[in-house]
Amino acid sequence: MSDDSRPSPSAAPSAGRTAAVIPAAGRGVRLGPGAPKALRALGGTPMLIHAVRAMAASRAVSLVVVVAPPDGAAEVKSLLDAHALPERTDFLVVPGGQSRQESVKLGLDALPPGHDIVLVHDAARPLVPVDTVDAVIEAVREGAPAVVPALPLADTVKQVEPAGAPGEPEPVVATPERARLRAVQTPQGFDRTTLVRAHETVTGDVTDDAGMVEQLGLTVVAVPGHEEAFKVTRPLDLVLAEAVLARRRLNDGF
Ligand code: CTP
Ligand code: MG
Repeated sequence: MSDDSRPSPSAAPSAGRTAAVIPAAGRGVRLGPGAPKALRALGGTPMLIHAVRAMAASRAVSLVVVVAPPDGAAEVKSLLDAHALPERTDFLVVPGGQSRQESVKLGLDALPPGHDIVLVHDAARPLVPVDTVDAVIEAVREGAPAVVPALPLADTVKQVEPAGAPGEPEPVVATPERARLRAVQTPQGFDRTTLVRAHETVTGDVTDDAGMVEQLGLTVVAVPGHEEAFKVTRPLDLVLAEAVLARRRLNDGF
């Protein structure tokens, strides 16, 4: 038995091994025409590789499952073969589905036994720092069935009655109290059994995995997120991501 598989002295409810599922099968329509979003370059390296490395940077993560664009699994596999990961980290590539939810489910289906904590991390959040990843894993180890990294909002949020046509004025119906709102990021962390059950039982549209666990009636907790875990969604986000990488290179140089 290796040191890594020994229960921690704190006798945490779960000290098991962690796998990360990375949904990367989206087109990136909002980013504009070009290659699938996860395959676009950031600082000369595909966004997906940054995201995989961000998960593999955590010592707890021993397996990364990448959910590739349906017609791009072979390409993703050779990309991963070409970019070194830490020796402790294995990877698997599976083809994705039509929706993010379906892609995550396909990734979960491919998980071998032996990992009792699962992270789900968007390929579109390539720059999440390892401290955020570790904080999520730690909260699951301490017994939370689902954990999300989250940040307070800078903007006030309004609930509206969506307009029929784009650009039409929309009536505002409510203003939720900003101090109680959080913007949620990834990686989201789960007790594996809970996440699998959520994906087997919850149907209907959801935009994150923790939302499915909420629908099971279980408690989801938020831990502090990080501004560098932002999602690359629109062209301006690429400019910001390049600037973050340039700042890191500068800091690493000193
Ligand atoms: N995703 C996926 N399978 C899909 C749709 C999305 O694996 N069928 C992944 C994306 O690759 C991304 C993450 O889910 O890493 C978050 O989705 P989003 O930021 O919306 O990415 P896209 O769907 O690619 O972008 P867009 O909505 O602009 O097309
Ligand atoms: Mg999308």
